[in-house]
Amino acid sequence: MAVAPRMRDCLKECIDKTYEKLAKSEPISGWTLYNGREKYLICGIDEHILIQALAKGAPLEQRDIYVLDIGAGDFQWCKALVKFINRNEAFPITKRVHVIGVRGEPYEGVQVVEKERCILYRIGALKVEDITTELIRNGLEGIHLDLVVSRWAIRHLVNPVETVKAVFDLLRPRGGVFLFDGFFFLKPREKLNKVNVYQRMVQLLLQSKVDFLARKFREDSSVDHFILQRSDERTFKLDLVCEGITRLDDSSKPKGGLDSKVVVHFSGLKERKCFSEVELPHIFYGNRALHDWLKAAHLIPSHLDWGPLKCKDQFPLHEAILKNQIDRVATYVGRDADLKRVDRRFNTAVHIAIEKNRLQILELLLRARVPLEGKNSKWETPLELAIFQENFRAIELLIEGGVAISENEAKQLKKLKLSHLLTGSLEADGSGRVEDSIKKRRRGWV
Ligand SMILES: C[S@@+](CC[C@H](N)C(=O)[O-])C[C@H]1O[C@@H](n2cnc3c(N)ncnc32)[C@H](O)[C@@H]1O
Repeated sequence: MAVAPRMRDCLKECIDKTYEKLAKSEPISGWTLYNGREKYLICGIDEHILIQALAKGAPLEQRDIYVLDIGAGDFQWCKALVKFINRNEAFPITKRVHVIGVRGEPYEGVQVVEKERCILYRIGALKVEDITTELIRNGLEGIHLDLVVSRWAIRHLVNPVETVKAVFDLLRPRGGVFLFDGFFFLKPREKLNKVNVYQRMVQLLLQSKVDFLARKFREDSSVDHFILQRSDERTFKLDLVCEGITRLDDSSKPKGGLDSKVVVHFSGLKERKCFSEVELPHIFYGNRALHDWLKAAHLIPSHLDWGPLKCKDQFPLHEAILKNQIDRVATYVGRDADLKRVDRRFNTAVHIAIEKNRLQILELLLRARVPLEGKNSKWETPLELAIFQENFRAIELLIEGGVAISENEAKQLKKLKLSHLLTGSLEADGSGRVEDSIKKRRRGWV
């Protein structure tokens, strides 16, 4: 990253001032709300299961695994991970795990302790903006990080953008993973309260050319969640220029707090109109292969899904349905097209067929076993849409086609006097949806 020369000293001074306040504080972590936790669950990922998967996937000759928690609070996350590894017989026995927690406040206990299969590092008074040299100073030279986590910490930095680059470049090539939440930076002359922080983050990650997934996350008033993976040797491409800083007073700070007294402005951030029109909390945007890997390894909850990011994407199947071009639809279906594909409003082909009452096409799609359960941006399944539109034939077709019926949908069907479609007893399947005897017949017509 380029920094205009006049800016370099100013930026350094701000970083040092913010850090020194922390480094000179009491040797305790005194953050009120987020003061460390055993798991962070960024993007819904259980970090214990993730590190186990990474350790299992590591080459046999790699004995040492390195894990880093940036902004570790009272090192609760690190201690819980050490406990998990040492008590878990399924964790690869040949691996030794270095669990490193770093924070700005001093730490006066024993810094490095060997605990069975792990080495636990509790490092205080570490300036995370200088992470590379700080790790070397603490005897961790030349390491590759297999997993880095950071929650409610990077947002407090003066220069989070460059810090994220530095951390990414320390990840192990071909596998290292970085889980973190969002932070603040601006384009020239911008105001913090006018910026869509989530879109800014996604723009930065697109420009960096790294593999990433982004998830809008509002719970806890945290900013959003991100996963990066270093899938090859390449480093984080950062072609921005630091142009200036804005000093913040308490009234201009974002909800959830910000330790830094300044926010940095960058030029060179490309304006791309490539985002979906909606930002849904159950959808990951970004690298689909990364999403599919996490899903296949049962690392992300089943209710989270992947969605397309780029507006320039075309949706030929959706278009053919809109135009009622049955032959064209048949061709796509016959060609084994991506029937799971959703449009920018997260409508599946089935949603569109129902919305436009294309019943012949709906039958065609059902025969091709298209997925029936996806939710669109209004949070509707195809069955909910059909119920809302009181499209009885579509409802019948969906049920004959084996759609899973939720308890709520069953109630609405009863209201429409369609209980006869729900023959057999309804029983919860543990996921909030219910089985019925028709569903069990599962598409007998194919
Ligand atoms: C709000 S706490 C978050 C603790 C924990 N990660 C959690 O989510 O509960 C912020 C953490 O960031 C660390 N931090 C903030 N600025 C820092 C800096 N410039 N250098 C090092 N650590 C910093 C603090 O020391 C603290 O551990």
